[in-house]
Amino acid sequence: MQNNIFSGLFVGQNLVTIKEVDSTNTFLKTLLSNSKPLPEGTVIMAESQYAGRGQQQNKWHSEPGKNLTFSILLNPLFLAVANQFDLNRVVSLGVHDALRPYLGDKLKIKWPNDIYYDDRKLGGILIETHLQGNQIKNAIIGIGLNINQDNFDPDAGIAISVKQILHRDYDLKTILSEICSHIEAYYLNLKAGKLLFVRDTYLARLYWLNQVKRFRSNDVVFEGIIRNVKDEGLLVVESSQGLQEFNLKQIEFLNK
Ligand code: BTN
Repeated sequence: MQNNIFSGLFVGQNLVTIKEVDSTNTFLKTLLSNSKPLPEGTVIMAESQYAGRGQQQNKWHSEPGKNLTFSILLNPLFLAVANQFDLNRVVSLGVHDALRPYLGDKLKIKWPNDIYYDDRKLGGILIETHLQGNQIKNAIIGIGLNINQDNFDPDAGIAISVKQILHRDYDLKTILSEICSHIEAYYLNLKAGKLLFVRDTYLARLYWLNQVKRFRSNDVVFEGIIRNVKDEGLLVVESSQGLQEFNLKQIEFLNK
């Protein structure tokens, strides 16, 4: 009998593990275009990526064998394109809630979808969608999480791993299975139309929510307070200018 540690209905039930690949997102995209349809919830997990991709054309570096680098296939045909930011919410919440029993309340979601511990980045999410008309035919959810890495390149700046916080190694597949079941639970809530629940929960987990902090936009540094995230994903910051809305390219969080 197969020893399946994935307790959910579909996310992670078809798990493909690969030793080395360019990027699990790219691999899954190629697989989708070349082969017969893949089951929703298929997970591609790599021990090592030699061309891992991050948001905004950044590279994603991860020491081979130490961390989680994987991609999940979802087919959110029920979700209008205008609501696609809800996928970011569902995935960030799933990752957050899976790690929360290990790391406690210093764990936050940094808008739009980074996973933070205090002021350090534990992981990131890269979602690539394939649209068909007003529908999302499929979404490739790429997740990179620093788990057992001991040291980071000084260029990685604010990176941190679970091991650096808790001083022990963790089994990658166990954490992967916990993440998959939490993402599935939030995804099913979204599918059941519980948009408000998903949006409110995401906001409640947000890094820097309702705190006076420094930001930069258009080369201007200013103090502001994150007050909300609009349905479509824009960040709402209150400052001396009143309430302003920003997309990812328009605002930078300043830690010092
Ligand atoms: C970011 O914070 O910039 C997003 C990082 C996303 C990295 C993951 S690792 C697995 C998947 N494959 C990739 O090439 N990227 C994502």
